Amino acid sequence: MSPNVAESNGPPSDSRNPVVKFEHPNCQLCTSKNLPYLFSKIRHVETVPKDFEFYSLRLMKLIAEDALALMADKEVDIPTPCGTWRGVAADPENEAFAVSIVRAGDSMLQAVRELVPGIPVAKILIQRDETTKEKTPILYYKKWPKNVANKTALICDPMLATGGSVIMAIKSLLEIGIPEEKMIFVNVISCPEGLNRLGREYPNVKVVTGMVDPMLNSDRFIVPGLGDYGDRFFGTV
Ligand code: PRP
Ligand code: MG
Repeated sequence: MSPNVAESNGPPSDSRNPVVKFEHPNCQLCTSKNLPYLFSKIRHVETVPKDFEFYSLRLMKLIAEDALALMADKEVDIPTPCGTWRGVAADPENEAFAVSIVRAGDSMLQAVRELVPGIPVAKILIQRDETTKEKTPILYYKKWPKNVANKTALICDPMLATGGSVIMAIKSLLEIGIPEEKMIFVNVISCPEGLNRLGREYPNVKVVTGMVDPMLNSDRFIVPGLGDYGDRFFGTV
């Protein structure tokens, strides 16, 4: 497994934006040039929920586009009005369904549904217990769309901290027969602890993330991060 070194894809690296290293063989950072601006909006402690929702939806659509690009990998000739252009298309055999890790995952789900109208949606309610140091989250509910066995799962959750929540979702997908290779985790902010764990335990699950922050604090919040994504997006601060 070759280590993947994340360079800060925000403003230039300095002591506040250090280069962050992690090990994951299948992780890519979103390539949009507008990440620094959009992350500046949503990270700011004074950004109110209405603006958080607006800017984070713009950001999540860019990240989700990069995830969708992983599926459009079939080279095809595109007839133009004036000639032929070598383009790409998604394999019609490789359709996607979205898996929202409720609750914060519903925000990324919103972005994905705007890009892929009509995409089948699975919901899986997984919650961390913020009152204890218990690392294993609790799975309360799951509901799958019909006929997803051959589809690619776009797992939606904007935050990757310890990795406990997404790993629980991955296990549930494996139980219904979706192989690791057909899972793409679509994420906004991650950290080395969660990425390293995912890379060790499920190296074939692809990860598309916006940024990799340096660390978790003792409450398992990403630092510098942006606080609780679900609370800020849904206005339950
Ligand atoms: C947050 C976040 C992720 C999870 C990440 O959810 O939305 O689902 O924590 O942490 P982990 O990688 O350590 O599992 P939370 O349980 O706080 O609930 P929420 O989605 O309702 O905000
Ligand atoms: Mg969550």
